[in-house]
Amino acid sequence: MENLTQARHAEELPTRLREICRHYDQDQIFLLCDSNTHRHCLPLLRQGGMEAVLPEEHIICLEAGDKHKSIDSLTFIWQVLSQKGATRHSLLLNLGGGMITDIGGFAASTFKRGMDFVNLPTTLLACVDAAQGGKTGINFNGLKNEIGVFSPAKEIVVCPFFFQSLDRQNLASGYAEMLKHGLLSDQEHWLEVLRLDLSDCCRPEFGSILLRSMQVKTAIVAQDPTEKGLRKSLNLGHTVGHAFESWTHEQSQPVLHGYAVAWGLVCELYLSMRLLGFPKDIFQQTIYQIKDVFGALPFSCKDYPALTEKMHHDKKNAGHNIQFALLSDIGQIHIDQVVEEKLIEESLDFYLDFMGY
Ligand SMILES: NC(=O)c1ccc[n+]([C@@H]2O[C@H](COP(=O)([O-])OP(=O)(O)OC[C@H]3O[C@@H](n4cnc5c(N)ncnc54)[C@H](O)[C@@H]3O)[C@@H](O)[C@H]2O)c1
Ligand SMILES: [Zn+2]
Repeated sequence: MENLTQARHAEELPTRLREICRHYDQDQIFLLCDSNTHRHCLPLLRQGGMEAVLPEEHIICLEAGDKHKSIDSLTFIWQVLSQKGATRHSLLLNLGGGMITDIGGFAASTFKRGMDFVNLPTTLLACVDAAQGGKTGINFNGLKNEIGVFSPAKEIVVCPFFFQSLDRQNLASGYAEMLKHGLLSDQEHWLEVLRLDLSDCCRPEFGSILLRSMQVKTAIVAQDPTEKGLRKSLNLGHTVGHAFESWTHEQSQPVLHGYAVAWGLVCELYLSMRLLGFPKDIFQQTIYQIKDVFGALPFSCKDYPALTEKMHHDKKNAGHNIQFALLSDIGQIHIDQVVEEKLIEESLDFYLDFMGY
């Protein structure tokens, strides 16, 4: 189980980190970041005595962007660790979004058969999703997350202060996963996520809701760490969402993951309502919120075959069926639900109608 440490103020961050780092030799501590987190987040860490713990030569900086979650970047990280004398008893601090926590976790887990790593998620998406749950890896051969291992972080340091430099789109992208967690948990949490104000992440209430959202995933992963059953519920919104996401990449107008998931939620909640009696009022409130925060993805019924084709290729499917995680109510999860293509198209019809296309 991964430990969560919270830094409620930026000033607390170096203190929390010093506590973590004191278990390691000072010359055995390394930090991985990307060009953006180097600029915006590293200065928050390198103060209060942490400058000495994190000398420039122990900072490994990648270029930003998911295309750098690659074998070349991985080799680069291993090379630096090797040249600087890292050992099995070293520590890698991953300072970044999901790109950095995924590749950093994988690099650390495989270097000398595994050294410790601590995640410091700097995007909302990484905080509520990527940084926890033990999935690490890289993209390979043009395929997302093709190579990787399950390997939990030693600790996750939560500091909403990092999100101050995030743009609105990246905040919204993380918010989509929070909405999903709200739907997977209970009415109270769903409602507080629905009312969440994304404009000021440094308020204490924001921090509390963030932690509750993280705990939704923690609780599910604790019961099913390697996704044999219950963990599949975290795919809510993702069967249609991944199809939207890769379709936008093909159209050379890529959208952020969370946007695709939010739009996927509209279709999958529709299916939940049609097949499992998901309550209409909760459906309505959720989809209006999605329209409000995320706007709409424009497509037409001519694109249905391309979209359903992508759903068929979803790696979570067994055989020729398209499988979903659906809900009969908030927190009432039904995994491995096979849905006929005709009904999936009906959910896309509903989407287009609702979004006004
Ligand atoms: N392991 C998992 O369980 C899991 C779950 C979900 C997503 N993921 C992975 O996570 C990645 C997506 O994560 P992401 O959305 O955080 O992407 P990301 O790490 O690429 O970050 C998005 C952008 O924000 C920048 N950035 C990060 N923190 C910033 C800050 N505080 N201020 C300003 N800019 C900042 C980054 O440099 C990047 O340009 C994907 O690779 C996805 O596959 C993994
Ligand atoms: Zn997701």
